Amino acid sequence: MALNRKALDDLRDTVGQLGERLSDQLGRSGLRGADELGERLGNRSGVRPGPARPLSVLQAELDGLVGLDTVKEQVRALVAFLQVQARRKTHGLPEAATSQHLVFLGNPGTGKTTVARLLAEMYRAVGLLQKGHLVEVDRAGLVGQYVGETAVKTDRVIRRALDGVLFIDEAYSLAPEGEGRLDFGTEAVEVLLKRMEDHRHRLVVIVAGYPRLMESFLLSNPGLRSRFAREVDFPDYSTDELQEIFAIIAAQHEYELAPGAEETLRRILAGLHPGEESGNARFARTLFEQALNRQALRLTRDGARSADDLDRADVVTLTSDDIADAARALGEEPLPLPAPDPTGWRRWLA
Ligand SMILES: Nc1ncnc2c1ncn2[C@@H]1O[C@H](COP(=O)(O)OP(=O)(O)O)[C@@H](O)[C@H]1O
Ligand SMILES: [Mg+2]
Repeated sequence: MALNRKALDDLRDTVGQLGERLSDQLGRSGLRGADELGERLGNRSGVRPGPARPLSVLQAELDGLVGLDTVKEQVRALVAFLQVQARRKTHGLPEAATSQHLVFLGNPGTGKTTVARLLAEMYRAVGLLQKGHLVEVDRAGLVGQYVGETAVKTDRVIRRALDGVLFIDEAYSLAPEGEGRLDFGTEAVEVLLKRMEDHRHRLVVIVAGYPRLMESFLLSNPGLRSRFAREVDFPDYSTDELQEIFAIIAAQHEYELAPGAEETLRRILAGLHPGEESGNARFARTLFEQALNRQALRLTRDGARSADDLDRADVVTLTSDDIADAARALGEEPLPLPAPDPTGWRRWLA
């Protein structure tokens, strides 16, 4: 279920981007109404919300994510706060004026987009946002190459995100390095801050990126620090957690690990260098996808055997070699097996 949703989301994003690109093309060729057309395409693809899922279902999906304990706790606190505020409103009491905009700090592949998508739906479930969709952009989606282009682009993206969440990945790239440098990123931030104010009740913005770069981004404009008061930390996954994530992905796709494959997987994951480049959960997913290619090659290499002869066990099983070869294709070598313990031998001989 979760998997199908992801595929659907990806498809929706792609169609949304196509719509946007088309509208850009039309805009450049000077056709009138291109913006409106792009808007409508955007609406048809990315903005129309699916049926609302109840909070309990969303909460269960969040709880089902591997690890991320502090993230889950923070999300729960946020949602609880909103529920109480909504209740206060029904009792005719004033709502506490706090901003729901968030900073997600974490390396790539740590689950930021996944959690943002769920959170957007939760915001809809508690009545904060009407649609609860997620529009994900990076610098290229906001910043233009020519004077005047950035404001138009940023505005368009914000319109698509209204009543949902605007997720700006690698947001630090909007802040120019070195002072006084002319950069359209600054313009995008200014438009963003203005629209956040104009559409206070219709837009939640999440800015995400590497922890070490986000702080200087937030300090680059005084308006940013005050609006993005809440930070959520996404730590790197441990080897155990990555192994569990791999197992979940494999199970979702109905694949199984042959004896020994789990051990190989563990040695690969344990050999990853933690930090910005490790890929985290995304590495687990890519490794799985590569392993499928290796399995297919292995199963069809034997010229004497036709693919029609493969039985169920053949096609569901990933071997140790499938996974080790997949890791090598991704530039990772499994850690060597631990050397046999010599004292064990002596004990055995004695
Ligand atoms: N805690 C988790 N449990 C299971 N799968 C996860 C988890 N975190 C991330 N993933 C998977 O890893 C991939 C990358 O996650 P993503 O949310 O895009 O990371 P980020 O936005 O931080 O780069 C996605 O395919 C996602 O489904
Ligand atoms: Mg992401």
